[in-house]
Amino acid sequence: PRKVILDVDTGTDDAVAIMFAALHPEIDLLGVTTVRGNVDLAHTTDNTLRVLDHIDRGDIPVFPGLAGPIARDDLPGERNFGTDTADDPHGTTLPLPPASTAPQDTGAVEFLVESLRATTEPITLVPVGPLSNIATALNVNPALVDAVDEIVIMGGGDAVCNVTAAAEFNMWADPEAAQVALGAGFAHRTLVPLDATHRALVTRQTCTDLRALQTPAGTAAADVVERRIDAYRAVITGSDAAPVHDVVCTAHLVAPDLLTTRPRYVAVETTGTRTTGRTVVDNRPNSTRPANAHMAVDADANRLTDLLHRTFTRS
Ligand code: BDR
Ligand code: CA
Repeated sequence: PRKVILDVDTGTDDAVAIMFAALHPEIDLLGVTTVRGNVDLAHTTDNTLRVLDHIDRGDIPVFPGLAGPIARDDLPGERNFGTDTADDPHGTTLPLPPASTAPQDTGAVEFLVESLRATTEPITLVPVGPLSNIATALNVNPALVDAVDEIVIMGGGDAVCNVTAAAEFNMWADPEAAQVALGAGFAHRTLVPLDATHRALVTRQTCTDLRALQTPAGTAAADVVERRIDAYRAVITGSDAAPVHDVVCTAHLVAPDLLTTRPRYVAVETTGTRTTGRTVVDNRPNSTRPANAHMAVDADANRLTDLLHRTFTRS
């Protein structure tokens, strides 16, 4: 199985990504690091503990990380997801029972740095929240990139944005950290932007099918995805599906055919008056910039749905 560290700001789609990684037999989830993002650090950490305990994987350690962006006092502005209401604050606490487990005393940055220093085989990093923990770990030890076979980042948007007209939330919430992560020397950087996650929508029918599995994971996934679909429906009349961004990243780990990627040079705007947090993607065919990411331009909705069914029958 692939050794994986998941970095999350749990949130509803993070919860589905965590359950997928914790339950899939080809993934060895070494630990989950938490960061401030969708909600504050105390809640992203508590939600993460609830998810793991709910599927009886309270043995997977949870390491709290940064409570805010690395180079700013707070988020760059007010959150307003506009029509992408599926990413609106879905309430700070997930609809799951309180966890019987506690977070580790070790912090996220120490866990990341120490795991990557000591490992004897490659580890895959999967950040699906703001990149504050990843950037801080890189600043502590830039050589940690050598122990990482692939970093799979949920974030960015080219034609599709959410938190502002120009930016996607994870990149916007800590743009300096995002630039550090994209500029570090990871050998294989996979970027999963909104352009791809919005092409792999999960439907209400899938939620019904997942609930019918009668497993803790199937029921919890159905609950949080229906919450996202209801939020979408409130703004986009007739919509009966929603993107579940973060699980596209964990599904990619076990299904190389899920994503269609293109080599792209991607940079993050950190000083724009209206564009802070924007992933500036160089799509020019004659660009002289060396690509620094495999950027997903498509994701197969049927394949994702199939993977959810197969994985959530367990637990
Ligand atoms: C990203 O931001 C959060 O709303 C989701 O958890 C996802 O990681 C989408 O822009
Ligand atoms: Ca997230």
